[in-house]
Amino acid sequence: QQSLAGKSLLSLQDLTKEEILYVLDLAAELKKQNKKGELIQPLAGKTLGMIFEKSSTRTRVSFETGIYQLGGMGLYLNSKDLQLGRGEPVADTAKVLSGYLDAIMIRANSHKMVEELAAHATIPVINGLTDLFHPCQALADLQTILEYKGTLDGVKLAYIGDANNVANSLMIAAAKTGMQIRIASPAGYQPLTEIVEKAREISDDPDFLLITESPEEVAAGADVLYTDVWTSMGQEEEAQARLTAFQGFQVNETLMDSAASDAIFLHCLPAHRGEEVAAAVIDGPQSAVFQEAENRLHAQKALMLAVMGK
Ligand code: CP
Ligand code: NVA
Repeated sequence: QQSLAGKSLLSLQDLTKEEILYVLDLAAELKKQNKKGELIQPLAGKTLGMIFEKSSTRTRVSFETGIYQLGGMGLYLNSKDLQLGRGEPVADTAKVLSGYLDAIMIRANSHKMVEELAAHATIPVINGLTDLFHPCQALADLQTILEYKGTLDGVKLAYIGDANNVANSLMIAAAKTGMQIRIASPAGYQPLTEIVEKAREISDDPDFLLITESPEEVAAGADVLYTDVWTSMGQEEEAQARLTAFQGFQVNETLMDSAASDAIFLHCLPAHRGEEVAAAVIDGPQSAVFQEAENRLHAQKALMLAVMGK
């Protein structure tokens, strides 16, 4: 039994390997209960505040339904409607909300802002995506990989495309859980040195990570092919330059065919067919993207139960 009660999750670095595996076990159990229609409401009376500075379909709906299914309530807070959006200090917001809520989920532009919020809050803060990390996505991804591969240890994950928040969290996830991760990105869009260094400090296997400019090199023999949008939220003005820079980085049928015969395709969604992924791949038989999206619900219910429960 792990005690995660009261903990924040800003990055998977905040959890030990054992804590991650505990959350994944709990997620699998909650998924089974959910499929059987069993209702357990251990978070009755608890409220999760959900602050959004950016758009969301999956994160909002999975957290809101997730807390409801656990007996609690989700409160959607558009940052523009909060005094935060009119300049109220982050620290004051954290202290005030800590008096009302049992946990905060936040999707923000700046990871530093979320760190500041967590530093001043006396309740758990869960990162629902920042410019640097998307740890809840990585938890759902790990759950999905476990469902298909039965293990994380030694699983070969190929990430092709922009080394963004999603890629950063997958790097930390791999370092923590024993997966091998190979990242192919064009020059200028490769992982930040500081995140690579953090991931390397976590892993005891120096070969767990490979960074290259060759999609073919990383896809060959991989168990999981993963990609994400070339232009993330907030980077809209770079879209044209990115479209040019990422030519040749589409996950297409040729790359998929070069992976292991039982490889799966993952994408955090939303996706752009014809850009980072070919329709034939994301809508093809090896795609697990909708199971992955569903697992956001189960993984986050497990996380909420772990940090908001007794
Ligand atoms: N994958 C993900 O976080 O999706 P949303 O932006 O819809 O929340
Ligand atoms: N990298 C994307 C993920 C969206 C879920 C973004 O930050 O917009």
